[in-house]
Amino acid sequence: MFRLWFGLLITAPFLSAANSGESIYNEHCSSCHEREAFRKMPASRITRVLESGVMAAVAPLSKEERVAVAAYLGSASGAGARAEAFCRDRKVSIADSSGFAWNGWSATPGNTRYQTAAAANLTLEQVRNLKLKWAFGFDGDLTAFSQPAVIDGEVFTGSSGGAVYALRAASGCIQWTFQADAPVRTAMIVAALGPRHALLFGDQSAGFYAVEAESGKLMWRKKADDHPAARVTGSPAVRDGVVFIPVSSWEENFATEANYHCCTFRGSVVALRVRDGSQVWKTFTVSETPEVSGKNADGTPRMGPSGVSVWSAPTVDAKRGLLYVATGNNYSEPPTSLSDSVVAMELGSGKIVWSKQVTPKDIFSGCNACIDVKGPDFDFGSAAMMVSINGRDLLIAGQKSGVVYALDPDRKGEIVWQARIAKGSSHGGVQFGMASDGRNVYAPIADGELKRSPTGQRMMDPNDGGGLAALRIADGSIAWQAAPARVCADIPGCSPSQLAPATAIPGVIFSGALDGHVRAYTAEDGKVVWDFNTLREFQTVNGVKANGGALNGTGPVVVNGMVFVNSGYDHFGTITGNVLLAFAP
Ligand code: HEC
Repeated sequence: MFRLWFGLLITAPFLSAANSGESIYNEHCSSCHEREAFRKMPASRITRVLESGVMAAVAPLSKEERVAVAAYLGSASGAGARAEAFCRDRKVSIADSSGFAWNGWSATPGNTRYQTAAAANLTLEQVRNLKLKWAFGFDGDLTAFSQPAVIDGEVFTGSSGGAVYALRAASGCIQWTFQADAPVRTAMIVAALGPRHALLFGDQSAGFYAVEAESGKLMWRKKADDHPAARVTGSPAVRDGVVFIPVSSWEENFATEANYHCCTFRGSVVALRVRDGSQVWKTFTVSETPEVSGKNADGTPRMGPSGVSVWSAPTVDAKRGLLYVATGNNYSEPPTSLSDSVVAMELGSGKIVWSKQVTPKDIFSGCNACIDVKGPDFDFGSAAMMVSINGRDLLIAGQKSGVVYALDPDRKGEIVWQARIAKGSSHGGVQFGMASDGRNVYAPIADGELKRSPTGQRMMDPNDGGGLAALRIADGSIAWQAAPARVCADIPGCSPSQLAPATAIPGVIFSGALDGHVRAYTAEDGKVVWDFNTLREFQTVNGVKANGGALNGTGPVVVNGMVFVNSGYDHFGTITGNVLLAFAP
């Protein structure tokens, strides 16, 4: 999916002793990371990432080497949460009947990212007056990408440092913390379990966790997939005591290494019992086992078929007993039938009932030598939404190609309408998600290409991309289209692209951009009625040094008169940040 980290592996001559931090960086890290990026990250945190996190498989180093490179790259370690950051009363109680909830990727089961008037408790007039109520800093992080769950006044959020927090919504004070083994990017979801609750989330090395929501104690931990490149990026969905986990990978990036046997990862959905994590089923999106399918010019074996990650949250259709997932591209040849598709699986068994492929033969990865004809990299990065209009159900899916599709769930996904809203790119026409209020579909426009800056860094084009399109559900015609904002002049790493998912409440659509702004548009005509620039330092309630950056990956959460927004995202040179912001009128 992500076309990042290209660049030749520079095997630099050793500058000093073989295991000095600098030489390890040059040999094992510099092909993918700028040295500067880690300056603000605590060394202890980098060591952890190398030990058990996302980098463990990429750069197998000895303990001494890990510590040396972390000390060379990072800052002196932060001290952890200060005592004053904790709530005085640390009792967490969750009333399932409270009604004030945003639980999981979407507040609605159809993944429409819509919050009802009663639960949002926020009018268009109040949105105009939203003000910052508190800011919470993620210590040492460069990215804030875990969408919080907010239930009955409690906020649960993950972080790219792998720390998971329970916070009180009113003040942002900490009730408990839990440390996962790798970055936690999924939305949080809470499921009742007897008198208690399980908080469910995945991490970027494919770990999946159930933590007691009341106490932060680990209940169980499983691996969603054994492949070394596997990760859980899309958010889980829960139904009747079973959690459905979408599995993706970043093997596309592994494949940039010349001698990598590209590729062997297969996307999947895993269903686990909330009670104990035992597996109900696992369904792969590539049915064949990858085999050697030839050799590159340099003799490196080619493997395939592979890929078809599930990057987004599954959508539960209780009425039909189905689970819908939108899939990504193949990584290597041969192409398979479920890539760039919407796939319907039986909730109970995972059996594939139907699928609709919109871009066949989309083979794409970092391995240029493995693929004879490279595909356009048009994954689905966003969840399919279930909507109803005039008594008819439709599944709406937005693709990185810039096309939005409406599929008929009663006719095996037959296309009812399709509409192009963007030119499409590897970084998304539609990237991480749309919203719908039952009348229109609101699609943030990403577009935007990577360019080389004058200093040679890869960055998003500051003059390309962005905007928000409203499409009528009935026929896909454009109701309105809001132009991109142009505020990027002179801000390094700034881009108008809107990759982050939108959020809808009655009368208002929220959408964030890589320019660091979160904006509220009227649902009626797309006029901007509120615009908050997160590109600044914030005084945080937990005393952590924090600033805002690009908005990406996750979207605003609206509950009971408050709006929660993550800011900061470290990818293709976009603006880093480490803050969760809470707004109220
Ligand atoms: C083949 C490319 C590649 C190489 C080589 C590589 N990395 Fe990474 N690294 C990545 C990618 C991609 C990510 C982001 C993963 C994600 O999206 O979660 C990452 C993430 C990280 C993170 C976590 C950043 C965060 O915001 O939490 C750290 C720390 C890190 N790498 C350190 C290193 C170090 C140190 C080395 C060398 C010993 C190294 N990496 C080698 C590609 C690479």
